[in-house]
Amino acid sequence: MNPLKGLILSGGKGTRLRPITHTSAKQLVPVANRPVLFYGIEAMASAGIEEIGIIIAPETGDEIREVAGDGSQFGVSITYIVQDEPAGLAHAVLTAEPFLGDSPFVMYLGDNLLQGGIHDLVAAFTASEPDALILLTPVDEPQHFGVAELGEDGRVVALAEKPPEPKTNLALVGVYMFTPGIHDAARAIKPSPRGELEITDAIQYLVDSGKRVEPHVVQGWWKDTGRLADMLEANRLILDTIKTRVDGELVESQVDGRVVVEAGAVLTRATVRGPAIIGAGARLTDCYVGPYSAIGEECVIENAEVEHSILLQGSSVTGLDGRMESSLLGRDVKIGRSDRQPKAYRFMVGDTSEIEIL
Ligand code: DAU
Repeated sequence: MNPLKGLILSGGKGTRLRPITHTSAKQLVPVANRPVLFYGIEAMASAGIEEIGIIIAPETGDEIREVAGDGSQFGVSITYIVQDEPAGLAHAVLTAEPFLGDSPFVMYLGDNLLQGGIHDLVAAFTASEPDALILLTPVDEPQHFGVAELGEDGRVVALAEKPPEPKTNLALVGVYMFTPGIHDAARAIKPSPRGELEITDAIQYLVDSGKRVEPHVVQGWWKDTGRLADMLEANRLILDTIKTRVDGELVESQVDGRVVVEAGAVLTRATVRGPAIIGAGARLTDCYVGPYSAIGEECVIENAEVEHSILLQGSSVTGLDGRMESSLLGRDVKIGRSDRQPKAYRFMVGDTSEIEIL
């Protein structure tokens, strides 16, 4: 067997995390201050995969290239593959065919996070040599995912993409293992009602052609970070695993529980209650940062309370009366209060933003 390659899908549109993803790729939205894409690359690297292809879209590809580079920071080699339009996951596989050649491969959706990596998966694939191996997990709202039906012998018998009336609660997790036969399957299928070549349909084609498709039920947690609530949850789960490290400067400040303060951050009369991470160069003054917060590089928090929130690079929160919670701020966002009278709310907010005053 040729060595296993990796394929990470980081194209697509990212409509669900707008406005954050109007200007940047959804796979670069940070979880615990690191792009979500990095977790997928690391999972592959630690499973021994050396060659990774990353599917990128023409609009957001450059910034992904810039951040992930040639892969040397992860000990892998990365090849970028431009997909001209987001025509579906199976279309992405076909676009990557020249890179993949005859190799078996792991396909990983760039906005997914899987606890515990992919070692078990690779071991199962290598041991039983199926034509494809899919990951499944029970979920509460299967209609938002690909859904699998298993036969009495435990084999996959039917798959449906986001069915309005799901037959089971077993969702397809965004990590798959394929042999080269998937290319012919992707060529054989037609676009779905949403106009995409669905990987779910290509796998169904394998099943219908008598190929062996094995299910593997995920043991740990899994998150598709496409929506705000999932993003916050992913942040929470990763922050739960961090170890305390204070490289920044604390001035009359207190840090409780597991907290990372990166070099160059300065905390003055601040209290940070972990798990939380404060990025390089951040300035926290007379403020409180509560559990499950990830404060990006160069952020400013002053006379304010922030909890269970993600602030991207360069944002600031100053002079708020109430506590800001369960929020996601994009880059260079400014939220603040002035002393001017009369008191009023004044906003300049981009398209499809959401502001809730509770
Ligand atoms: O997250 C798991 C789900 O992912 C599965 O349960 C579904 O069966 C599967 O179809 C997929 O559904 P989504 O609707 O969530 O896929 P999304 O459009 O969000 O795309 C997933 C990733 O693939 C994302 O990082 C963008 C990238 N992508 C997407 C398309 C449509 C591409 O690189 N190219 C594409 O053409």
